Amino acid sequence: MGTFDIRELRRPVIVAPMAGGPSTPELAAAGSNAGGLGFLAAGYLTADALAERVTAARGLTSEPLGVNLFAPQPSAGTPEQIQAYADALAGEAQRYGVALGEPRYDDDAWAAKLDAVLDLEPEVVSFTFGLPSEPEIARLRSAGITTVGTVTTLDEAWLAVSRGIDALAVQGPGAGGHRGTFDPSASPGSQSLDHLLADVLAAVDVPVVAAGGLISADDVAGVLAAGAVAAQLGTAFLLADESGSSPVHRAALQSREFTETVVTRSFSGRYARGLRNRFIVDHDGQAPLGYPEIHYLTSPVRKASVAAGDPQATNVWAGTGWRRARTGSVAEIMEGLTPDR
Ligand SMILES: Cc1cc2nc3c(=O)[nH]c(=O)nc-3n(C[C@H](O)[C@H](O)[C@H](O)COP(=O)(O)O)c2cc1C
Repeated sequence: MGTFDIRELRRPVIVAPMAGGPSTPELAAAGSNAGGLGFLAAGYLTADALAERVTAARGLTSEPLGVNLFAPQPSAGTPEQIQAYADALAGEAQRYGVALGEPRYDDDAWAAKLDAVLDLEPEVVSFTFGLPSEPEIARLRSAGITTVGTVTTLDEAWLAVSRGIDALAVQGPGAGGHRGTFDPSASPGSQSLDHLLADVLAAVDVPVVAAGGLISADDVAGVLAAGAVAAQLGTAFLLADESGSSPVHRAALQSREFTETVVTRSFSGRYARGLRNRFIVDHDGQAPLGYPEIHYLTSPVRKASVAAGDPQATNVWAGTGWRRARTGSVAEIMEGLTPDR
């Protein structure tokens, strides 16, 4: 166990890492200042940009902070499948006046970001899409960093614990954004958060955090009563003052235009939950798996959609509780979720 123990939080609420905009230093610091645990999201950033954000957050709080990294993973897509999807998206590129992106593969600068966290020493480092190797986990432990593995099935929980991870974030199917599923070609687990949490708690001895579709004080109390040491909420903080959510994302979450969230691979080539919009309706059936190539392929269209103030061709990630996401400061939202203890 690293020096910091999640069970010591004044408020057992974690402001989920949310890559792609929402997770600003201000959001992370406000989560920690409110007695919970705030996270920086390393995904899609360079290692230098991550370091700048951690330093900025450190300047805003003296409380513990977390950093979330995307674990390296092979792509599940073939060049032929990805090219066929590029052909299917030609009309979108034309419609938004952009060229599709180059469907390249990378590992999200894993080694450089691992070095960055070893250097910056945030109290907590969590992982999604898989796990660090045993030696990497040992290096993090020697640096006094508490490691948290995001898991979506009991098998993943076993693997994480056997590799020496300090704590688990159990992510259920209602979660907004990407599922953390290790195997990039596997369909995401469909077991409900309650059942998955119970199975994991019965099987492991490490602290367990619960995530996915939690939006209210009752939801938080429920997972704590079931045995989780904290609840991790993303969607609940998307409308917070300190969040970096785009104006298009904020407006869509509050619009009556959208009636449901769905799990789609159409934007990134990995399963993720978001508001069901035109792009998903038109392309989900055509989209192969293939992360991060599909992420890069669709990026210019998504950016152009956001720039045009149009929520119909960009990923509007949201968990199943999105209707009840509240506006206000992180401190106010936290106050509505759980008492300061
Ligand atoms: C916009 C958005 C971005 C996300 N980005 C990340 C990320 O970078 N890393 C990660 O581990 N989880 C990410 N997640 C998932 C959260 O960690 C968490 O599992 C999820 O938000 C919980 O479900 P909820 O949104 O219903 O609260 C993201 C979620 C959202 C909504």
